[in-house]
Amino acid sequence: MLRLDGVARFRPASLFTDTMTTRVLTGITTTGIPHLGNYAGAIRPAINASTEPDVDAYFFLADFHALIKCDDPERIARSRLEIAATWLAAGLDTERVTFYRQSDIPEIPELSWLLTCVTSKGLMNRAHAYKAAVDQNLAREAEADDGITMGLFSYPVLMAADILMFNAHRVPVGRDQIQHLEMARDIAQRFNHLYGQGKDLFVLPSVEIAEEVATLPGLDGRKMSKSYDNTIPLFAGGARALQDAVMRIVTDSREPGEAKDPDASHLFTLYRAFGSAEETAVFRQQLLDGMGWGDAKKAFLALLERMLAPMRERYESLIARPDDIEDILLAGARKARQESIPALETLRAAVGLRSLKTSVAPAANKEESAALPKPPRFVSFRDDDGAFRFRLLSGNGDELLLSRVFANPKDIGAVTRRLVAEPDSVSIAFADGAWVVSLDGAALATGSQDVAGFDERLRWELEVLKQA
Ligand code: TRP
Repeated sequence: MLRLDGVARFRPASLFTDTMTTRVLTGITTTGIPHLGNYAGAIRPAINASTEPDVDAYFFLADFHALIKCDDPERIARSRLEIAATWLAAGLDTERVTFYRQSDIPEIPELSWLLTCVTSKGLMNRAHAYKAAVDQNLAREAEADDGITMGLFSYPVLMAADILMFNAHRVPVGRDQIQHLEMARDIAQRFNHLYGQGKDLFVLPSVEIAEEVATLPGLDGRKMSKSYDNTIPLFAGGARALQDAVMRIVTDSREPGEAKDPDASHLFTLYRAFGSAEETAVFRQQLLDGMGWGDAKKAFLALLERMLAPMRERYESLIARPDDIEDILLAGARKARQESIPALETLRAAVGLRSLKTSVAPAANKEESAALPKPPRFVSFRDDDGAFRFRLLSGNGDELLLSRVFANPKDIGAVTRRLVAEPDSVSIAFADGAWVVSLDGAALATGSQDVAGFDERLRWELEVLKQA
């Protein structure tokens, strides 16, 4: 692994982040059909990284990014399902890894806007993908920006939001993404400088390139890529399609019996990407000894089948159960949002998007309050009818909950203590247009907001209170 711009710094006092762990994060754009190059270049190294000790891995489907490249809803939908199933079939452990869809995390586009506001347009003008599109237009004597959307132009900002939202230390990607990582660092630095008041709001991410596999060749020897139409499908079409593709790998015209040069053969490069060191050494010697290309392809196919057959079986069974995949992804999003919701709260406050309520006493120690969110508090009161109720107010004074009526203020104390101490007994469900908090199945209070994700926020606030 090559790591550029090494030293990633840890976030000073993120509440639930163990500062000894390294956060590894990467995303795959959900446009195409997963192929061997995706597996070797992204999925396999990412899964391997996720099993390292002290690594906290975040992997996601970059489906907002997919919309930039593709306006065919059916293809987007299909690709999300197939790519999710591919990661799971390849052995991703969703207990260990946070696996989610970008579009299930509303904090990402919101952060993307905050970042857009500090990103210089000149920096985006220099993005390779945008420049290539302009060059193509100019070459055919069209307007420079002909057909170029703001999505394409702002692609690197959204990608920076993906990474900075979760304070990733390491981002494994292909070579073509190096510039995007540099831009993410740039944007993070500017944001830290403008709003951090001497502290880092964002970790500066390091790009990580898997040298050996970053450029897996395709059938024709160029980089394996959907855009060159030279891919070997992972699962699509089954064993038959795999065989057809392998047989189409381009080789030179040397006859069986003639010595082959492994280093000039991309069939060898492909073999090496998947074979063990010993197998590869044997294969190399066989080529030098004059093995025919037909036999060499058969050997490669056997190697692939051995690796892919069990995965293909898992893939087929997963793809037949899209509801289960949906549940897995939603659970991943819930996990991710435990972090993104409070993080965005902090970032909003940092740029000045704060509650207007003045009832909140200014924090005695300004430094501390910037680093740690203020815990919420329960406030009980007697309403006009003489009944007792309580409210839950967030650290900055927003009303979060209003309780039902209680006959006795003592009961309020007992119930609010349990809300904090026994999260497993608490359920939060959306019913008839409102969030309802229940304890042991009995409704207790109503949410003061009816927005999506409010349940996550409440859980998080209660957790903050527990830790306080
Ligand atoms: N741009 C990446 C690609 O095309 C996909 C991606 C989107 C990504 N957001 C990301 C990769 C964040 C790593 C981190 O390959």
